[in-house]
Amino acid sequence: MIPRRTFLTAVGGAAAATALPGGWPRARAPSLPGVLAPLPFAMEQGIKTFSLRSREIKLPLLGPEGPQTPLWLYADAPLPVIQARRGEPLRIRFSNGLPTEHSSIHWHGIRVPNAMDGVPYITQKPVIPGGSFVYEFTPPDAGTFFFHPHCNESGQVGQGLAGIFIVEGDAAAPFDGDIILAAKDWRLASDGSFLPFSTIKGASGAGTFGTVRTVNGAAAFARDVPASADLRLRILNLDSTRVIEMGVEGAEAHVIAIDGNAVGPFLLDTWRMGPAMRLDLAVRSPQAGRSFKVIDYGAAELYELAILTADGVPIRTGPFEAAPLAASAIPAPDLAAAETQTYLFSAASNSIAGFVDSLDPNDPLAAVILDSLCTGDETFWSINKLSWPRDGHEKLPPPLARLQAGKSYRFMLQNGTPHPHPIHLHGHTFTVLSSSKRQIPVHQADTVLTAPKERVEIAFVAREGDWMLHCHILEHLGTGMMGYVRVT
Ligand code: C2O
Ligand code: CU
Repeated sequence: MIPRRTFLTAVGGAAAATALPGGWPRARAPSLPGVLAPLPFAMEQGIKTFSLRSREIKLPLLGPEGPQTPLWLYADAPLPVIQARRGEPLRIRFSNGLPTEHSSIHWHGIRVPNAMDGVPYITQKPVIPGGSFVYEFTPPDAGTFFFHPHCNESGQVGQGLAGIFIVEGDAAAPFDGDIILAAKDWRLASDGSFLPFSTIKGASGAGTFGTVRTVNGAAAFARDVPASADLRLRILNLDSTRVIEMGVEGAEAHVIAIDGNAVGPFLLDTWRMGPAMRLDLAVRSPQAGRSFKVIDYGAAELYELAILTADGVPIRTGPFEAAPLAASAIPAPDLAAAETQTYLFSAASNSIAGFVDSLDPNDPLAAVILDSLCTGDETFWSINKLSWPRDGHEKLPPPLARLQAGKSYRFMLQNGTPHPHPIHLHGHTFTVLSSSKRQIPVHQADTVLTAPKERVEIAFVAREGDWMLHCHILEHLGTGMMGYVRVT
């Protein structure tokens, strides 16, 4: 029996042409229907057991009549959804069916034991082609999470390897609808093949952007929702590169969770979501016949992530009040006793990043220089002047810091570059305390966006293990902006 939750069924997505910002190669719009499939599970000795096999699957991502795109997927369609409950023991059997690349799975934002964190050479051996690994953990917190490989991230995630991980148990009363909106761009040529996932200009700058935007794999996500209903929208930025400026038009939206962590509900104006960041919203849908939209105001051309149209008899009549979710039991850092450390995110000392940045991409001579630069893996970035080695995880650098388990820390995340960087710490849910540049509500997160020249202060209680700290723009972590802290 395949359990299905009502909220994931019958998600209609209408595929239509999408507007692409000028200058991008024009590919036809993808046509996958935006239906996210819950991953089936089996019970093994009373343990809910999922199976994920990474492999190449050809799908007509550019349209039913269009060419096949060689996706790398964990299931038969992009973005399978693992559904679990807080406190429920899970087993996830991963087998690597990729032809040549090793892989692993990282459970982003879930406070798993270190050995289950999915980082090759740090927490486990890489899973070689044909090999497998069994992950076992009990999610301690409810919320909206996701998973992805931790090897050749820009290539493997770029080609489609990612999934959504919903842990239930935070809502006191059921919502009238629970809708996942996972944004991801694809680097597709018009013949359906993939364009290079990384470029020197992108890796050394703001990242290499996709050519086609999708939500749940659909170019234009549209569906009907019940009228005057209280909906939960789970928005995930699963793109490798793009920062989204999220907003809602046509309905009142309240932020109820950030990176899956409950927050005292506040009215959404717009919220900047870097790659890997999530936002849960409570929205009262309008009267029947009217629509509301989820919009990225940050795009050069305003991009509608979703159009949701109210239909049927009104569900609610009273005034709308976004009920708070139950907070997770995250150990509270002792701010007075905490040790403060500074982490500077900057260009690698020996890098050509500054040089590449100084070139005008419209200058034909600059284009020749860019082309002539070696296109192999480069090192452009560093944390505290240490760059993750370009030949991957095999030659481990020393930890960025040695921390003490159970002790409180305040990390000053200092962005010393002209680009935004979403900074992610594995294994911890930290408190975002303040920014040197903007007013932000104190909230819990696993990834925090730092703007150019901004300093963001986070605090947490250290958990034992080796935990990665990196930018989640995948080309940045792949070209040096990654390290780890060792907690003993
Ligand atoms: Cu989603 Cu190392 O991260
Ligand atoms: Cu970055």
